[in-house]
Amino acid sequence: MSMVRSVLLAGSQSRWLREQAPRFRFVRDAVSRFMPGEKLEDALEAARALQRENIAAVFTALGENITDKAEAEAVAAHYVDVLRRIHLSGLRAEVSVKLTQLGLDLDAGLACENLRRIVEAAGPASTVWIDMEASNYTERTLELYRRLRFSHPNVGVCLQAYLYRTREDLESLIPLGPAIRLVKGAYKEPHTVAFPRKRDVDENYFKLAQRMLSEYARTRGMRAAFGTHDRALIARIAAHALSIGLSKDAFQFQMLYGIQRQEQLRLARDGWRSTVLIAYGSYWFPWFMRRLAERPANVWFVARNLF
Ligand code: FDA
Repeated sequence: MSMVRSVLLAGSQSRWLREQAPRFRFVRDAVSRFMPGEKLEDALEAARALQRENIAAVFTALGENITDKAEAEAVAAHYVDVLRRIHLSGLRAEVSVKLTQLGLDLDAGLACENLRRIVEAAGPASTVWIDMEASNYTERTLELYRRLRFSHPNVGVCLQAYLYRTREDLESLIPLGPAIRLVKGAYKEPHTVAFPRKRDVDENYFKLAQRMLSEYARTRGMRAAFGTHDRALIARIAAHALSIGLSKDAFQFQMLYGIQRQEQLRLARDGWRSTVLIAYGSYWFPWFMRRLAERPANVWFVARNLF
């Protein structure tokens, strides 16, 4: 892991920085590159604009590691309301949630009940995506996913290609007919659990993607989403899909708002399913720091705003 990435990821967990950062205009300006705004209305507006380009949206209300039961329940109630507004507006949009925002640190049963409320409010045609957090949550997240998937088909989970364990996790999930969003992984992980070299992460990502698109996985009901901005990897997955005779709408590509916008548009124009994840809310600090860590050049972008 590069030094800069490591420092940024360590900083993402600093409470002091989190409390200080929003006071600075240049930081808020930099954040606005990745977020249309802090309000749900800002996210809805951005989704409407994307829909005109034939790009679907996934909303996420920023927040993590909530340690108060009432607060975790309020997050669930918020998502239920978001889903109601999505249905009313006719937008092609889904939601993605963090289990630690729904109370996983307090009690897995509480997180499960909160998630169930959201999944039931979404209705069968809309998938509720579960983000994957740091590796100390992987086991609990998958356990909860399995429990809910058993009774509700419209729930999906994120898997991270940087973890060694993901290959086996994927194999064990396939028989459930899961919806899976594959990403590279955004947290600071030791080399005992995650590939330290980017090249190995990328290669593992492609192998996992092939498995997700295999006939074996598809006949069991796999719904694949590839969350990445890596154009070389996207091209490889697209070529592979066509080479095995899949149609362009057999799976989707997902990217984050504000990153690789041209590629988001190109995919949609070329007939692929293109989805953008839109984050909003005031608790953006750790999330924003992970975005900086993904591309150290972003630090210069923040610094430029300072002057
Ligand atoms: P890579 O890092 O190789 O980037 C490829 C190219 O994309 C870069 O060269 C650059 O041009 C551009 N790029 C990537 N990140 C950028 C940035 N921040 N700013 C500007 N340009 C950037 N992680 C996780 O651990 N749990 C999760 O639940 C999720 N969920 C999730 C959903 C979706 C829809 C996406 C797209 C990503 C996530 N992630 C995530 C984040 C993911 O793990 C990963 O950190 C980032 O996607 C960056 O990796 P890439 O695949 O984009 O490749």
